[in-house]
Amino acid sequence: MYIRYLPDDHATHSVGEKLAQLAVAPLRIYLSGPLGAGKTALVRAFLRAMGVQGAIKSPSYALVEPYNLSNFSVYHFDFYRFFDQNEWEESGFRDYFEENAVCLVEWPEKAGGLLPTADLEIELAYQFEPSPRGDSVNRTESAGRRIEIRALSDKGQTLVDQLNEQQ
Ligand SMILES: Nc1ncnc2c1ncn2[C@@H]1O[C@H](COP(=O)(O)OP(=O)(O)OP(=O)(O)O)[C@@H](O)[C@H]1O
Ligand SMILES: [Mg+2]
Repeated sequence: MYIRYLPDDHATHSVGEKLAQLAVAPLRIYLSGPLGAGKTALVRAFLRAMGVQGAIKSPSYALVEPYNLSNFSVYHFDFYRFFDQNEWEESGFRDYFEENAVCLVEWPEKAGGLLPTADLEIELAYQFEPSPRGDSVNRTESAGRRIEIRALSDKGQTLVDQLNEQQ
């Protein structure tokens, strides 16, 4: 497990960049957490660090944005608006997950049990800065985020170990 307090935007970006440095396809990374927690922010930093230039759109009704990079493809999914399981069959998404690709998925829980198991599960939550005594929190400051990255495969575990070794 990799757990950090992310005080600002910058800290979120830095986790996305570190993951991009370590990521090799095939890899599945699922991101959970409430609206505005920073899932897209992290994915954007990941894609930038992978060399994606220009505007990085958030997947909306199309549910997926593909990026064909030099060595492999990266698919950014957002299943927030995914309600119809028939859509899964019709969309061909299953094939995306079987490709030699990196799949980054926001709102995986909305796709029910359709998705294959992740290598990494990332959980982002709103959190106020922990006080040095570990009890009260300073609610006059705006919230940062807490990130938890869990490995669900050997490959994921290697990535988590590498992240933890970095600092
Ligand atoms: N560590 C942080 N501390 C404070 N603010 C942050 C931090 N990381 C990101 N943010 C801000 O939080 C917001 C995150 O928005 P983002 O669109 O990434 O959320 P999301 O989790 O993708 O939401 P949605 O479920 O709607 O897709 C942005 O405004 C970003 O600047
Ligand atoms: Mg988002």
